[in-house]
Amino acid sequence: MGNMSRYTLLFVFVLLAATSQLGTVDALIVDGLEVGFYGRTCPEAEGVIRDIVNNEVGMDHSIAPGLIRLFFHDCFITGCDASILLDESPAGDVPEKESSANGFTLVGLRTIDIAKSTLEAMCPRIVSCADILAFAARDAAVAAGLPSYDVAAGRRDGMRSNMDDLPGNFPVPGHHVPRLTELFNQRGLSQEDLVVLSGAHSIGGAHCFMFSNRIYGFSKEADIDPSMDPIYAAQLRQMCPPQKPDDNPEQAPKVKFDAQTEEKLDSAYYSELLAKRGLLTSDSALIEDPQTRAMVETFARDDALWQQKFAEAMQKVGMLDVLIGNAKGQVRKQCRLVNGQEQQQKPQLPWFRQQHRPPLPWLQQRHLRRPLPRHPVADLINGFFRGSSGSGAKFLSQGSKAQQCPLQ
Ligand code: HEM
Repeated sequence: MGNMSRYTLLFVFVLLAATSQLGTVDALIVDGLEVGFYGRTCPEAEGVIRDIVNNEVGMDHSIAPGLIRLFFHDCFITGCDASILLDESPAGDVPEKESSANGFTLVGLRTIDIAKSTLEAMCPRIVSCADILAFAARDAAVAAGLPSYDVAAGRRDGMRSNMDDLPGNFPVPGHHVPRLTELFNQRGLSQEDLVVLSGAHSIGGAHCFMFSNRIYGFSKEADIDPSMDPIYAAQLRQMCPPQKPDDNPEQAPKVKFDAQTEEKLDSAYYSELLAKRGLLTSDSALIEDPQTRAMVETFARDDALWQQKFAEAMQKVGMLDVLIGNAKGQVRKQCRLVNGQEQQQKPQLPWFRQQHRPPLPWLQQRHLRRPLPRHPVADLINGFFRGSSGSGAKFLSQGSKAQQCPLQ
């Protein structure tokens, strides 16, 4: 293990996530949320979140895709309970955000912290982190060009988060349609939802290590995945040079999913797929299966139809296994911590961390050992400074060379 490269480790975990069938959990679409839920208790809540999201996206366009992805990742695993936001759990489990299936690349956490801190100052302990995430994902989609849609609220926040919930339950970039459909079905989502929601890959991008297997040493017969347009693959190779064992994945270059309309949430993603310019295997796979291909062709032709379906699918995602009513969950005071955690727990490190001393820098938890604030004002300020908003990666545009990209 000592000599194992970081990429080999990442590959092993992605493979484990892809193959493990253990711990499969079916989800329930729960009815009972209300549009205008905070109308009396915190009437400004939705407006405040929208302003904060607009402001953040105005300063950094990568926040919009980050928030949409955060919402999906939260709801897909243990429901929309803001478990993706927890830095740690009272039990000391390693939280979801640490899983390799999240790619160590979550973006937008700081935006949620800012919204939470602001709302705590206005209406303490009223607006849940799970609802903030659902509103923020909608506002991010709207900021990226989607017509607005209603977000029903009333979700309460969960009290546990465990990275072990992901393997076998979460889609990974190497999955093909049958497995993707199976995972979505287990979560109460249809194959059409899979195709519609994958259209979120119309904005944002993926780090090179998420698809490098497609452009280097793909198979014995072909160095490049033959399902990819060769010109596109050549562009990707320019942006993503072969990985070296010592490369830090957290600083890996990131490539836009849709270079044509990169910041606009539109159905151009589907036209790109049909032109064999899908970035991830799971994107390209949507044109291999006849059923999903027919949907891709429809959405490529009809942007308005896709936008409407996307909004509806996001509403459906927002109902997955939600906690409703005072008897369930809680409204967290800070989105990164369960209420009443007097002292931060040291998580029980998974085996791969225990065996690496000193730990690999890109596997190190960055938020775990910070002291808890003891004062309400410190709480507020803390919300602004815990963690970072970005993944540390800079986007490369098609045509730019990786070597020219200034990495953080
Ligand atoms: C169908 C299975 C899916 C797979 C395998 C998948 C996988 C991925 C991967 C590997 C990335 C790149 C992460 C990175 O390198 O930073 C990514 C990014 C993204 N995903 Fe997905 N995803 C899937 C579905 C979804 C869904 C359903 C949504 C939302 C509804 C979504 C929203 C996004 C967004 C917006 C980004 C860009 C994030 C950014 O640029 O920061 N994905 N996804």
